[in-house]
Amino acid sequence: MSTTFTWYGHAALGLETSGYKILVDPFFSGNPAASISADKVPADFILITHGHGDHVGDAVSIAKRTGALVISNFEIANWFEKQGTKSHGQHLGGGFKHPFGYLKLTLALHGSGLPDGSYGGNPAGFLLTTVDGQKLYIAGDTGLFGDMKLIGEYYKPDLILIPIGGHFTMGPKDAAYATNKWLKPKYAIPMHYGTNPFLKGTPKEYIEALGNTDTKVLTLNPGEQVEF
Ligand code: NI
Ligand code: MN
Repeated sequence: MSTTFTWYGHAALGLETSGYKILVDPFFSGNPAASISADKVPADFILITHGHGDHVGDAVSIAKRTGALVISNFEIANWFEKQGTKSHGQHLGGGFKHPFGYLKLTLALHGSGLPDGSYGGNPAGFLLTTVDGQKLYIAGDTGLFGDMKLIGEYYKPDLILIPIGGHFTMGPKDAAYATNKWLKPKYAIPMHYGTNPFLKGTPKEYIEALGNTDTKVLTLNPGEQVEF
């Protein structure tokens, strides 16, 4: 069995693993790179890294249409319940065995206020171990922080999804530093770039900053799929 990845532009991802369809940070309406519309995309589970509008995105309408379970930190999960969706709250450092794999929330250096001003708790990254044992680190929106070393050493991700746009998150240089020195994944997918004028970092700069590396960078076009 394998896991299929679809990058929808910005931080929006689709994962298909063990027969389940998972969306991460499903921002389609207003996302200039989105390759599918919110009223078409399938989902069994929706994972939200933090409360910002470009990550909560269309999650409420998608969850209502599909009946998908929304998984996020406790505060955001409660907010989703108030919007009338099903949710499952976890928190940083904790894990839960979902049908699609074991999901842990981990640190992200960022903010998490929700679109209506509600408190969104702490931002998170996701550490997902699929049923087949593939290890994914979805960093979410984050600056460079030293505990990425711990994530690399302890969790040993096979694949990372890492922001490179800069301004609100790591730029190419910081992302390359974490990738090479600490995370050392087999594969890296750069994200959170090119979707607004502030996000100037490019995959080319990330690849240049990585230099000679064992990590294979997969630069995806929005809508493009890869299989692991
Ligand atoms: Ni954000
Ligand atoms: Mn963002």
